[in-house]
Amino acid sequence: MTLNLKGGRLINSSITLSDGNLSTEVDSSVLKICGGYSLEGNVRISGAKNSALVIMAGALLCSGDCRISNVPLLADVERMGQVLTALGLSLQRHEDTLDINARDILTSKAPYELVTQLRASFFAIGPILARLGVAQMPLPGGCAIGARPVDLHVRGLQAMGAEIEIEHGICHAQVSGNNGRLKGARIYLDTPSVGATETLMMAATLADGETIIENAAREPEVVDLANFCNSMGAKIQGAGTGTITIVGVDKLHSTEYSIIPDRIEAGTFLVAAAITRSELLLSPVVSEHLIPVISKLKDIGVSILQESTDCLRVKPAQKLKATNIDTLPHPGFPTDMQAQFMALLSIADGDSIINESVFENRLSHASELNRLGAEIRVKSNTAFVRGVPILSGAPVIGTDLRASAALVLAGLAAQGETIIQGLKHLDRGYDRLDTKLQQVGAKIIRT
Ligand code: EPZ
Repeated sequence: MTLNLKGGRLINSSITLSDGNLSTEVDSSVLKICGGYSLEGNVRISGAKNSALVIMAGALLCSGDCRISNVPLLADVERMGQVLTALGLSLQRHEDTLDINARDILTSKAPYELVTQLRASFFAIGPILARLGVAQMPLPGGCAIGARPVDLHVRGLQAMGAEIEIEHGICHAQVSGNNGRLKGARIYLDTPSVGATETLMMAATLADGETIIENAAREPEVVDLANFCNSMGAKIQGAGTGTITIVGVDKLHSTEYSIIPDRIEAGTFLVAAAITRSELLLSPVVSEHLIPVISKLKDIGVSILQESTDCLRVKPAQKLKATNIDTLPHPGFPTDMQAQFMALLSIADGDSIINESVFENRLSHASELNRLGAEIRVKSNTAFVRGVPILSGAPVIGTDLRASAALVLAGLAAQGETIIQGLKHLDRGYDRLDTKLQQVGAKIIRT
């Protein structure tokens, strides 16, 4: 096991535990950014990561063929594909289209080392239980941003008739009564969890009777999943509102479906334009998925024009003004945009306050931004950002997906060279971010 230490900082290595063996996976690539350049041109937004992952899990519900298009090129999508093939599905990818056949699910046991690396694969417990009446799903475990419990998923499935035992990190679920078929139930979610809403909505599509999910998550990706399931013959109503009603059916048929554009990728590029005082065109974009982000950018002084139905033009602000942000479940301000806005507000005029109320540990990028010259103080779940005139380049490390994106954005604005490590996080959730930035003039190279 080799750990590289540079100036007392652990760099370029990570330790993964799989099948009881310790192995180190050295993530040696870094991004080098020469900051201070403005951007110009058109950016193509890829399909939504948080739709693609859950819709791939949803394909398990189908007893035929699913053709899913506009699938982004991401490490997490590759991993989800490995989970599905490990369960016995056949899966072919050509460019941005996935052909999945789930006619036969050969096993109810999802592979430990894959599920612990990809939280979204846990959501597959809903479809597996709905199809087979039994499932062994490793617990996803925590990550840099929080403990990431799955109690709401478990309690909802229990309400639908699943008996669930958790031992040795595995969730053993079994539907013993009702001929192994889940039953419809009325479920209230203590918190509007995106994943729990999606797991339970998928499980309910094949359950016996009606399921009502109250205090459901309203994210656009939940609506995308509901539309996908309905395209296979499911009977889901109310997705996008706090109450979702699902009437179970016996089988779901083949479908072809295209995934919505990624609102978080689009939001990240809106901030890239704002922080470099540039003008960019983004498409395709669904503007109503970005209402809280666009509203905040306008508060900060950035103007955003609807160029056409699915194209936004962002124009540079004369002056970036400080503002306050509270992250909330949709339609509130998205937690997945919090880090990117912290980077932007670090060079705004005045003091900003950022409250992260969705995850318990999602402010660690503040210390890395301070290495770039920002002045940010963190107290519990609140960051106090004092705007500075300019940032200065330095070596930094990304600790999670959106933190890494925030460091890229800060690097674009910083004077001098910024070197970013921890790209495995970035590549999980962004489809060729550095290439897309290069194409609009950013001085960024991956070594
Ligand atoms: C989804 O995660 C997204 N991931 C996250 O995106 C996103 O940040 C999050 O929703 C919130 O919008 C995918 O869709 C694959 P939650 P999820 O369940 O479903 C608590 C990114 O950067 N909770 O809505 O795991 C939980 O601890 C990623 O793209 C329970 O207490 O999020 C958290 O505090 C990061 N019990 C809150 O709910 C549960 O059973 C919201 O989590 C489940 C969740």
